[in-house]
Amino acid sequence: MSNVVVKKRSSALGAEVLGVDLREELSEETVARIREAWLENLVLVFRDQHLTHEQHIAFSRRLGPLETHESIPKFCHPDHPEILLVTNYENTGKKLVVGRQWHSDLSTTRRPAKGSLLRCEEAPPAGGDTMFCNMYRAWEALSPAYRAMLQDRWALHDMTHARETRTRRSPEELVDIRRRNPPVYQPVARVHDETGRTALYVAEMTTVAFEGMSEAESRPILDYLFDRSVVYENVYRHRWRPGDLVMWDNRCAMHIALADYGDDERRVMYRTTLQGEPSGRLPEAETSAAAE
Ligand SMILES: [Fe+2]
Repeated sequence: MSNVVVKKRSSALGAEVLGVDLREELSEETVARIREAWLENLVLVFRDQHLTHEQHIAFSRRLGPLETHESIPKFCHPDHPEILLVTNYENTGKKLVVGRQWHSDLSTTRRPAKGSLLRCEEAPPAGGDTMFCNMYRAWEALSPAYRAMLQDRWALHDMTHARETRTRRSPEELVDIRRRNPPVYQPVARVHDETGRTALYVAEMTTVAFEGMSEAESRPILDYLFDRSVVYENVYRHRWRPGDLVMWDNRCAMHIALADYGDDERRVMYRTTLQGEPSGRLPEAETSAAAE
């Protein structure tokens, strides 16, 4: 019998899973219970799990195929390509700033991440929390007329739109990043491939404009949607402890990493990424250019 107990930690999303040791080989029944709780709560927290990279990868694989991260060598674990390094320091000691705006992992690609499993090894004494919001609720909170306006609309997601990228990279670097990672259109109202529910899928960090509309026209609508998505009642805030593993569903939740800790404090995390279903398309110009 599975000993899994699931306790909600916030009203909108986020639950803690008790009675599971992720270092062990879990039964099919336990994995099914975890999957069910995940689809229901969007974010699951497992406390006091001190996993090795191998155990982290093994548990993640029970939930589906994993991305590898060789295309971003700076953040890819040298021995485990399934592990993404999420740390505020490079090996060189240089300070890094990533994930400081609301986003959904890999939304700028044509195969956005299904889920992410982030494991905490070192956390600052205070600060460095991650916040999550429920994008089903963000969609359902809109009036029927507003939803009708957005229902079949697409929006452009561009990796270079992130504030830290825009402000810290040279124009030449931005062109190069965009060439290697062409922006993609994603559906604004995206249907979750497992629950069948619709979630709002626009993100502060990556969404530039709606298809067929200028950035200036899109901006007030996007700002409204971003603001409404992250109202207090729609957020779970996770305070990290070493040993935590938190898994979230990128199809229906956004997240943000807070930068409210000192430059001399370390925050060391490791992420695996569950491969998602194909979604999104290149803008028409790129599509025809690619076909030539
Ligand atoms: Fe992220």
